[in-house]
Amino acid sequence: MAKGDSTVAVPNMKLEKLLCMKGGKGDASYANNSQAQAMHARSMIHLLEETLDRVHLMGSSSSPGLPFQVVDLGCSSGNNTIHTIEVIIKHMTKRYESSGLEPPEFSAFFSDLPSNDFNTLFQLLPPYGGRSMEQCLAATGHRSYFAAGVPGSFYRRLFPARSIDVFHSAFSLHWLSQVPESVLDKRSAAYNEGRVFIHGASEETANAYRKQFQTDLAAFLKARSQEMKTGGSMFLVCLGRTSVDPTDQGGAGLLFGTHFQDAWDDLVQEGLITDEKRDSFNIPVYASSLQDFKEVVEADGSFVINKLQVFKGGSPLVVNHPEDAAEISQSLANTCRSVAGVLVDAHIGDRLSHELFLRLERRAISHAKELLEKLQFFHIVASLSLA
Ligand SMILES: C[S@@+](CC[C@H](N)C(=O)[O-])C[C@H]1O[C@@H](n2cnc3c(N)ncnc32)[C@H](O)[C@@H]1O
Repeated sequence: MAKGDSTVAVPNMKLEKLLCMKGGKGDASYANNSQAQAMHARSMIHLLEETLDRVHLMGSSSSPGLPFQVVDLGCSSGNNTIHTIEVIIKHMTKRYESSGLEPPEFSAFFSDLPSNDFNTLFQLLPPYGGRSMEQCLAATGHRSYFAAGVPGSFYRRLFPARSIDVFHSAFSLHWLSQVPESVLDKRSAAYNEGRVFIHGASEETANAYRKQFQTDLAAFLKARSQEMKTGGSMFLVCLGRTSVDPTDQGGAGLLFGTHFQDAWDDLVQEGLITDEKRDSFNIPVYASSLQDFKEVVEADGSFVINKLQVFKGGSPLVVNHPEDAAEISQSLANTCRSVAGVLVDAHIGDRLSHELFLRLERRAISHAKELLEKLQFFHIVASLSLA
């Protein structure tokens, strides 16, 4: 392939038409590389349940026959979203029963961008079980809710007004709606020359990323405030950082700003791509500080903050043999590929993308021990109720 071959690039394609985690059930698929997210989610269940305890119960006289509606935004494909929906419905059912109310029927909406592998997700769904709610709950291995997929960006309206009781979103809101235009514009002071991520970038680049994050979060809150029923609540978890400096992106910085960055530089140095080709790629992720997040929620004003905190998540690398450098570096490459592979494929084509992730894996091998210790994620956890 010629250096900087532009035939595979899709620079003008809207991110929301393209972005998804790696689908299917292969080695680099999200379904097989999301055990870390599952563990981090498990450690926050008590916070999710606290949020659910705030949701108003619908009395059968006030809302006869209406379903209780739950949404997972940025569900991706894999078991994590199914597990989360089960936790929510079981908890709400218990709340109804202990209040002496008959549980309503439940609807669960699995929502993500249109390229998401909904087929794999739907195949993982247990069958709907039983004719009554009691039968559903008694039948293990069955689900007790009606399921539907909703394709679209969570930065816009996805549901009818006042229709949703609980919104949940985990590990998704750090994905921006786009790479800020100025970051890819050579004439701009925010041009992120030589880099593929905000980590270690200039103050101007960092400000452009922060502004994009805050604009996106504001659009997200506006849409949800219209869609949520009175008495509804929302539980959000996304990548966060402890540093006030946005160019220090913590775990995300280590993931995308070091060996991933070096692998792009390798391709340039080996003459496989031009430096312009590299610089026209940026990861549209922003790990927010508590302050960045809070400012937006307060400015929007539609939600009461029940809880807003930074929570230590842990490592995204799940390995069976922590002393095995090859396993650790492969886990890093697969983790990176499962979340960013689709974007890299679209930018430089499958063949060069394969080369890039091979280099990433090779580079990581001599830093395996350090990666296992230092690659730690922090999350922003927000519990919000309609004001
Ligand atoms: C890391 S996955 C999280 C999956 C799942 N929630 C979990 O807990 O394992 C992030 C998901 O967010 C989705 N996403 C990113 N931007 C989005 C947007 N604007 N609208 C809807 N989904 C989006 C991605 O497509 C991806 O599936």
